[in-house]
Amino acid sequence: CKSLDELKQALANFEGCPLRYTAKNLVFADGNPQARIMLIGEAPGRDEDLQGLPFVGRAGQLLDRMLAAIGLDRTSVYIINTLPWRPPGNRTPTPEEMELCLPFLNRQVELVAPKLVMTLGGPAMQTVFKTTSGIIKMRGKWQDVTIGAHAVPALPTLHPAYLLRNPPAKQQAWRDLLSFKQRVDELGLA
Ligand code: URA
Repeated sequence: CKSLDELKQALANFEGCPLRYTAKNLVFADGNPQARIMLIGEAPGRDEDLQGLPFVGRAGQLLDRMLAAIGLDRTSVYIINTLPWRPPGNRTPTPEEMELCLPFLNRQVELVAPKLVMTLGGPAMQTVFKTTSGIIKMRGKWQDVTIGAHAVPALPTLHPAYLLRNPPAKQQAWRDLLSFKQRVDELGLA
């Protein structure tokens, strides 16, 4: 696919992942495709499935506040998930489902070619950083990753849904956000 439109169409036509048959909508992306900052979440939840947009439920509202706290919003970032369809009942995606959809994620990152990436939560971190390590150990540590053919510095942080369940962890997420903001400022990205 040579453009995001083509990629979205290819996903809409892709019948290889069973999740599409239980999902109501394809959740492709939100935000600015020209942005140089990309956020990668796990998979759509109920609200996202209904609206066809990532991070529009309660976790998404918290994400918007987290972004606002470091001077960002959906015009300055592009937001995707590792999976474009909601797993039934929000269960964790299986490795097979992840594997099936990974080529689409890779291409989406290549086409947007972000200068910085932040992953949200364990599963997105494990996919992007190609690791089985846990998020508590990995969060806050920058690494250069290669997604598809695109090399980019990436920072894993906690998932906003986790922060809603564990408010004290917001302290750690805040440290990660400040570290992210510092790189954004250094590179003049927003
Ligand atoms: N959680 C995610 O990881 N992604 C969404 O789009 C919504 C909730």
